[in-house]
Amino acid sequence: MDIRRLTDRLGGLAFGGDYNPEQWDEQVWKQDDELMRRARVNLTTVGVFSWALLEPEEGRYDFDWLDAHLDRLHANGVAVDLATPTASPPPWFTLAHPDALPVRPDGTRLTHGSRDTYCLTAPAYRRAARRIAGALAERYGNHPALALWHVHNEYVTLCLCDHTAAAFRVWLRARHGSLDALNEAWGTAFWSQHYTVWEQILPPRATQWHKNPGQALDFSRFWSDETLAAYLEQRDAIRVRSDRPVTTNLMLPGYQNLDLWAFGREVDLVAIDHYPGAPGVDAAAHAAFDADRARSIAAGAPWLLMEQGTSTVYAGGRVLAKEPGEILRHSLAHIARGSEGALFFQWRQSRAGAEQWHSAMVPHAGPDSRTFREVTATGEAVARLGELAGSTVRAEVAVLHDSDAWWAMRVDGLPSSELDYLAALRRAHRAVWDAGLTADFAHPEHDLSRYRLVLAPALFLLTDTGAENLRRYVAAGGTLLVQYFSGMVDERLHTRLGGYPAAPLREALGIRVEEYRPLRQDEQLTLSDGSTAGSWSESLRTEGAETLAAYTHGMLAGSPALTRHDFGSGYGWYLSTRLDDTGYAALVGRLLTEAGVAPELPGLPPGVEAVARHAPDGRRWLLLLNHRDDVVPLPRPGHDLLTDGPLRELPPGGCAVLRAH
Ligand code: GAL
Repeated sequence: MDIRRLTDRLGGLAFGGDYNPEQWDEQVWKQDDELMRRARVNLTTVGVFSWALLEPEEGRYDFDWLDAHLDRLHANGVAVDLATPTASPPPWFTLAHPDALPVRPDGTRLTHGSRDTYCLTAPAYRRAARRIAGALAERYGNHPALALWHVHNEYVTLCLCDHTAAAFRVWLRARHGSLDALNEAWGTAFWSQHYTVWEQILPPRATQWHKNPGQALDFSRFWSDETLAAYLEQRDAIRVRSDRPVTTNLMLPGYQNLDLWAFGREVDLVAIDHYPGAPGVDAAAHAAFDADRARSIAAGAPWLLMEQGTSTVYAGGRVLAKEPGEILRHSLAHIARGSEGALFFQWRQSRAGAEQWHSAMVPHAGPDSRTFREVTATGEAVARLGELAGSTVRAEVAVLHDSDAWWAMRVDGLPSSELDYLAALRRAHRAVWDAGLTADFAHPEHDLSRYRLVLAPALFLLTDTGAENLRRYVAAGGTLLVQYFSGMVDERLHTRLGGYPAAPLREALGIRVEEYRPLRQDEQLTLSDGSTAGSWSESLRTEGAETLAAYTHGMLAGSPALTRHDFGSGYGWYLSTRLDDTGYAALVGRLLTEAGVAPELPGLPPGVEAVARHAPDGRRWLLLLNHRDDVVPLPRPGHDLLTDGPLRELPPGGCAVLRAH
């Protein structure tokens, strides 16, 4: 589906948020209409938690109230992103279908009284979800307010019940074909885990000691496939009744239950929710990380920031407020990286209920508040950026991102608890971000030829195809940095014997890792180039690569720590330890320079982002975000769309969008 239809329909970029009018009365709805006009809201997500009202008892629907809201929104010029309410089944559902309640790994069956209380594999749940999605599509498929479908809300829950066990076995049969193949793949010859009938196999519930790693990895794959199947059922129930685009809002949390690449292929528009996990510049870097992931799973196409908080920064057991100016800056951080707008959870802050203290566009204090004034200013800014619709972002650097590798690094029994997939990925992305550049994410088996530099920070699991792809990328002129503990296992989690990483990749790197040596906590190493490192080390020998830095202590003294291989027309770099932040930034900086990657606007100080969006017809815009608290003179003045005037410097915390064509 052509996503331009959404922005054409909205007359520009999207601005708005989740709208839950069922919490309020008519007087408030009237005020909502007026305030939405003031804030330039043009898109609201409606119905996301409305199952109990829409279907008060099994099979009996009450749509009248929703009709009224959709008509009202439409009359007010606000389009609707209509949600299916399946993330929050009502109490009658769980009482009628107790077998559809989720079960934790320790066997505890949860009860209703919160949300997301369902088991995705329970047939009753799937039936009910298809039914309500179909009923909504039947009723609203051609409603003039309808711009987009929003299936479910953040597919993140897990369940380990007997339905899941049965579905897992079906999936395993299809993947492995025979029990012999499964036993071989999972290495069940060890610890007496051999299976003789399929019914013996369980999902990875609580166990006495390490779970079988193959079982854990396959379960992650299965759960992602099962979730995607649940999404597709709803999508298809909608598609036969409505021609509007369909999506689901993906949460990109610190754990990974979904193969994001697979979802990216199936949704009509990639949509994500983003809540920063730290304040200040770290929040900006986090937004860039998730936004770059969203764009990448959308295969470079425009995508949408479906949720953010006006004043919500989750940080260590506290929800911190956003600083003045951050509502606009965070919104533009996403738009800079390809989002077709900026939406929030939620429009009006709840007076009661489970998310009463969650920030919103209209806070408890009402419209006469700093938050609402900033929301209105942000709405006005977004409205001025309509000409950016449909433009995209180009990156020359990619960070490799693979769900299998991530899941594989979650299994029990790895040699160090400091092996953290997400942390490694974020660190690599952050180093590129700190250097003033935008990165894509790519799968190790993707065509990488458009990138000058590829970073592989944590490719623990790597298929033969992936290893060969990386070898070819370097041979054809690419620059690749592979970091420690990569290419160790294949897709069955079987170790690469005879030296790490996987053979074709080793060829491109010109090294062979013989032994891994996790370091003691707080142990620090100094390398021969003066940089310091910790956490991990490896004993490796070069097989064609040159040594750029060597270990200086202990049994590894003199052996290579950082290497570079002149291979084919490119360079394969290998880093066998965890450099400290300064050393890592310097290494990534050097790689960027050697690979010939330059920032969009050279000369900006750290903490100022410059990202370009390109239209297919050659037009180009430069989005500038100053996360610093001082004035930053621009190396090149320009015309700012936000003020419709010339711009020579960015004020502290300021933003600008320059026409650069
Ligand atoms: C999102 C969710 C919203 C709301 C928000 C609070 O993950 O989709 O419904 O709960 O978090 O931050």
